[in-house]
Amino acid sequence: MTNEDQARADIVRLAKSLFDRGFSVGSAGNISCTVEDGILITPTNSSLGFLSADRISKISRDGRHISGDKPSKEIFLHRAFYESRPSTGAVVHLHSTYCTALSCLADVDPQDCIPSLTPYVIMRVGQVPIVPYVRPGDEKAGRLIDNLRGKYAAVLLANHGPVVAGRNLESAVFAAEELEETAKLLIILRTMKVRYLTEAQVEELAAAFGKP
Ligand code: 13P
Repeated sequence: MTNEDQARADIVRLAKSLFDRGFSVGSAGNISCTVEDGILITPTNSSLGFLSADRISKISRDGRHISGDKPSKEIFLHRAFYESRPSTGAVVHLHSTYCTALSCLADVDPQDCIPSLTPYVIMRVGQVPIVPYVRPGDEKAGRLIDNLRGKYAAVLLANHGPVVAGRNLESAVFAAEELEETAKLLIILRTMKVRYLTEAQVEELAAAFGKP
């Protein structure tokens, strides 16, 4: 099996796993990863539960469609992560329920919408800003991600959902799951008095495990 065949198989397996557990419904969400000579990305309007490895779209690094079905309309978002954050090997965009709920709230901090609730969100995701709303598939989303200069591994698109970058497919998917579970905790705890991790505890995590 070539590396590209493996990457195609991994996209199908991880996308189905996300779909089967309700992290994506209908044809929402898209997943991409880099390969030697370009980027693989899920086709537009495809369901993450029912992908075919040989129909996954392949595009060049500069955005030309090389093969497979028509690529996701969110290709601009994905490319912006690869370009602005060189450690990125895979990107996951979802409309997962609790992240999307958080992205619709008027009173969250747009620079840092995920407070330090648990160690794993700090270790796997880090600080998460909210990117202002643009319509799905609008190229402007790419420019908004570029403007963040690769500082963040994840963002929430306002009134839309999360975009998470990782070194490889598994780490991007695991981080997207961690972010979704943390958003769920934040919504559950919204009316309760919460004890957050202290700055010293957050620094200890960075020292022990590095930053995402
Ligand atoms: P695509 O079907 O074009 O990938 O778009 C789905 C989506 O999640 C839009 O934000």
